[in-house]
Order: sequence, then C-alpha cells, then structure tokens
Amino acid sequence: MDVNTIAVIGAGTMGRGIAYAAAAGGYRTILEDISAPVLDAGLAYVCRSLDEGVARGKLSAQQNESALAQLVTARSIEEACREADLVIEAVPEEMETKIEIFTLLDKFARPGSIFASNTSSLAISEMAAVTFRPDKCIGMHFFNPVPKMKLLEIVRAPKTSDDTLAACCEVGRRMGKEVVVVRESPGFLTSRMNALIGNEAFAMLEEGIASAEDIDKAMKLGLNHPMGPFELVDLVGLDVRLSILEYLHRTLGEKFRPSSLLRQYVAAGRLGRKSGRGVYDYPDAKLAGRGIDSQ
Ligand code: CAA
Repeated sequence: MDVNTIAVIGAGTMGRGIAYAAAAGGYRTILEDISAPVLDAGLAYVCRSLDEGVARGKLSAQQNESALAQLVTARSIEEACREADLVIEAVPEEMETKIEIFTLLDKFARPGSIFASNTSSLAISEMAAVTFRPDKCIGMHFFNPVPKMKLLEIVRAPKTSDDTLAACCEVGRRMGKEVVVVRESPGFLTSRMNALIGNEAFAMLEEGIASAEDIDKAMKLGLNHPMGPFELVDLVGLDVRLSILEYLHRTLGEKFRPSSLLRQYVAAGRLGRKSGRGVYDYPDAKLAGRGIDSQ
C-alpha cells in the first residue's frame, strides 16, 4: 500500500524525532500530543532539525519548505489518525497505555491504515490483539536522537502481513534510515543487547570497579562506542532502561535482573537528562508530557 500521510502519537523525545524523519522524508506529517506545551516544543524541535538538516547538506531548501508546508499538529488521537495511512505511536513504554492507544486508533482510523509502535521491547502482538487489523500492526523502533541515528529496527509480529512489512520498510528508507527486520521477541535485537551492557555498567559502578567517568571513558576509547553506557542511559532515561530490564527479566530470565543501583537512582528521581539528574547532573530539566519518556 502507498503511504502518503503519517501521524505520530506523542510529541516527546522520540515522537518529535520521528515526526522530523517523516517530514524530512516528504510525508504529510501530523504530530499529536495531549499536552500543548509538549506539542509546541515538539514542533519547534522538528523545525530546528529541518534547518539543521539544510545546514548539514542533508536536505535542500526546497525539501525544508515543503516539509514545513506538510507538517501539522493535532491535540487528540481521533483528529490525528483520521487521514493517516500510517500511525506511529511514541507514548511511554507501558503496555496499558499502548493498548489504550491502539484501541482508539482502531476505532477512529481508516480501515486500511497501518499502526506501528515505537516500543523498544514490548510485544506488538499484544497491542495488535485489541484491534480488528492485526495484519496491519508492526513495530517501528527508532533510535535517539532520531535525526542523527541511521537505524530503523522493524519488528514483525506473527500476524503482520507481507504488505504491511514492505510498506514500512519503504517508509524507513524514504526517511533515510537503514532497515533491519527482526522477529518479535522480548527486547527485539538492539534493546536486548543494550540492556545487558547498560546493566553491567551499573553493577560495576556499584561494586566500585571504576568511577562512572572511567567506565564511560573505557567504553568509548577502548571499545569505540560513540557514547559511554552512563552518558547513553542519561539520554535514554533511567526509568526507561529499568522498565525494559524488568520486562526482559520477566520474559527472558535471570541474566536481565536490574541492578539495585539503577533501581535506587530511579526511586530517587534520577531519571537522566530529562529530570536534570541521572548518573550525571544536568542543570536544565525539560518538560514532561505524553511522549516525553517514550522510546
Ligand atoms: N538532519 C539530518 N541529518 C542530520 C541532522 C539533521 N537535523 N543532524 C545531524 N545529522 C547527521 C549528520 O550530518 C551526520 O551525518 P553523517 O554521519 O552522514 O556525516 C550524522 O547525523 C551524525 O551527526 P553528528 O556528526 O553531529 O553526530 P555526532 O558525531 O555528534 O554523534 C551521536 C552523535 C550520533 C548521537 C553519537 O554520539 C552516538 O551514536 N551516540 C549513541 C547514541 C545511541 O546509542 N542511541 C541509541 C539509544 S537507544 C534508543 O534510542 C532506543 C531505545 O529503545 C532505548
């Protein structure tokens, strides 16, 4: 099927990044959030990223102009999904919330439209089960910061059709991403791998093996990771990482048991950049809204 219009539900960190990728890819793009300040901040981010795309030579001035002309916002799911061919939800990583969104989408969206979740670990088939179109449900897992990250991990659930898969792979390519297709399984590919590395870093910090700064430095300079595990978890959100680990622990077993230090930090409100303090300190805390914690 042809995708012309993409609606993004949730204008937090991931939603606004996905909206940028959709707009830059030439799609008519609808960005939705229930919070007006989050939606405004999301829209401003998309506009800034489009300008940066031009400054970096990734987009032409003409592409920037037509992306802006095709970009709109919405304050409800009903309004956002009415005309969309593809809806991508980027709300917080809780199955109950995702199910609520998929139920509303199924009620208000056109019968042929595709529903994608940006979940980083949860089962697409559970979300698909509340709709009358499980063949049109799929995972589209983007990475933070979306404008700079080249991968799109596409998750195929047991009932996802070939047509849905093909349409979403094409969307990913038009957004300028490299695509990998993964069979549905807890944590998919990237979150499962990343959760283990990040959890081990907290275990080492707790055991006093090295300082946070030295663990990050070692991973960057010794293993060529672009960011250290603590810099990365501060970007992703400690609460997000904890919820992924809890889920992987429940589904895949003991090796994913979350470190007690990570639990302590989350309980103390040290959630990362977005809360002003994670493993490191950040003086400028950001706004909270529907999609702000989302992966
Ligand atoms: N539009 C288009 N392209 C843009 C752009 C824009 N607005 N802004 C930047 N780019 C491009 C740049 O031109 C550059 O392209 P080339 O590689 O072709 O030259 C590319 O994006 C990278 O930009 P920078 O050179 O500015 O990036 P950097 O060197 O400062 O690296 C980083 C920044 C990519 C974030 C790097 O630090 C990194 O990879 N960090 C790790 C991030 C990571 O692991 N994220 C995943 C987190 S896990 C997650 O998100 C999923 C989950 O489920 C939890």
